[in-house]
Amino acid sequence: MPALHPTLKAELHLSDGRKIELPVYQSHLGFDAIGVEKLQKEQLFTFDQGLTSTALCESSITYIDGDQGILLHRGYPIDELAFNKTYLDVAYLLLKGELPNEEELKAFKAEICSHYMVNEQFTRLFQGFRRDSHPMAVMCAASSALAAFYHEYYDEDPEKAHDKTAIRLLAKMPTLAAMCYKYSIGRPFMYPQYHLSYAGNFLYMMFATPCEPYVVNPVIERAMDRIFTLHADHEQNASTSAVRGVASSGPNPFACISAGIASLWGPAHGGANEACIKMLEEIGTVDRIPEFIARAKDKNDPFRLMGFGHRVYKNYDPRAKVMRETCHEVLKELGINTPLLQVAMELERIALSDPYFIERKLYPNVDFYSGIILQAIGIPTSMFTVIFALGRTVGWVANWRELNEEPMKIVRPRQIYTGHTERHIK
Ligand code: SDX
Repeated sequence: MPALHPTLKAELHLSDGRKIELPVYQSHLGFDAIGVEKLQKEQLFTFDQGLTSTALCESSITYIDGDQGILLHRGYPIDELAFNKTYLDVAYLLLKGELPNEEELKAFKAEICSHYMVNEQFTRLFQGFRRDSHPMAVMCAASSALAAFYHEYYDEDPEKAHDKTAIRLLAKMPTLAAMCYKYSIGRPFMYPQYHLSYAGNFLYMMFATPCEPYVVNPVIERAMDRIFTLHADHEQNASTSAVRGVASSGPNPFACISAGIASLWGPAHGGANEACIKMLEEIGTVDRIPEFIARAKDKNDPFRLMGFGHRVYKNYDPRAKVMRETCHEVLKELGINTPLLQVAMELERIALSDPYFIERKLYPNVDFYSGIILQAIGIPTSMFTVIFALGRTVGWVANWRELNEEPMKIVRPRQIYTGHTERHIK
């Protein structure tokens, strides 16, 4: 990563007469950033709850323009990638910086296939859980368990070790996710199939049984692949910055990914897709929408419209547009006319014409339509955030690798202390 060079200066004038000059670093796209490192010498911190105005790091992987509703992966718009490339194309792009040619993609896929299987010991890991354990709890454990199997990370050539870690995670997350599902329904685990696409293999491991041939539906396969792409990476969101925070102290990378899975689980983040479908089911019919819109606007009611709003997007989430189109494709292919889609579309129409949502620039986000597609495919609600984690793994790994390109600087924020001053036991 080229060193950052200040292009502008900022002057901080304090009412006690102090004047502090600060560097301003220029981004290639989007906001510039004021460097505040020297404030500590002045006995000052910045305070930015939720880090809404703080650049955690320098990165060249993904760019988001929240006002314009733009999402670029290494410069390519998300809709172009989602409609014209596969998830493995996008994963290669995020990890290596360029889209793969045919040969490179073939070699990348072959390498991933060779790492699809997990150690047979993992079947014992699953047997330690209740059948009704939440799959995200199991995935947190399974990702950490990978750290128990792969710790040669430290003694290999770092570049080679990083490559192998990336491949192992991309390859094994679908296998572990499908094992979570099979275990929860008491069905046998299905082994990966090298001849299938990445998404096709996942669908096979999820829905095939040893008793009969399983044919992947190409429309569902494409939709599944597109869902992985739409979740691949998203700048410094809560789970990605969690991965960076944990990775900054240098632990095993699989443990870092486990931190990302834990953060993603929350209903304010990746857990919103599960919460959104439950909300749509609770609303049930179009005539009940006004009641829920009123609740979302009521400050005394903790209810929020799940799948709506975003910390960065103050415009339509570009992923939600692709997801909505994919939703129509899948429901048409399967001949499903779920009332949930009618409720979702009417909810979107009403909310986008309501001053409360317009003033706060609240639009549907990536989680608003994804649950309807996943439910139509036959994926249980409890697995929705696992699907998100599956797609996001490459984004976490790409950020983990980018962080490791720089000398390790541990993430160690400070605080505004408002507790007792020193006192002594009487
Ligand atoms: C993801 O960061 C990422 O990039 C995340 C993600 C990714 O790919 O990694 O894009 C994936 O997590 C998408 C977001 C999924 N979460 C949800 O859909 C849950 C519902 N959304 C909200 O919880 C909320 O919108 C957040 C958490 C997403 C964003 O919250 P912010 O930016 O902290 O907004 P805020 O809480 O400051 O709200 C601003 C105002 C408040 O009203 P006022 O106090 O100004 O009167 O908007 C209101 C909020 O009450 N508001 C909502 C709302 N979201 C915000 N009101 C009703 N319904 C909502 N969903």
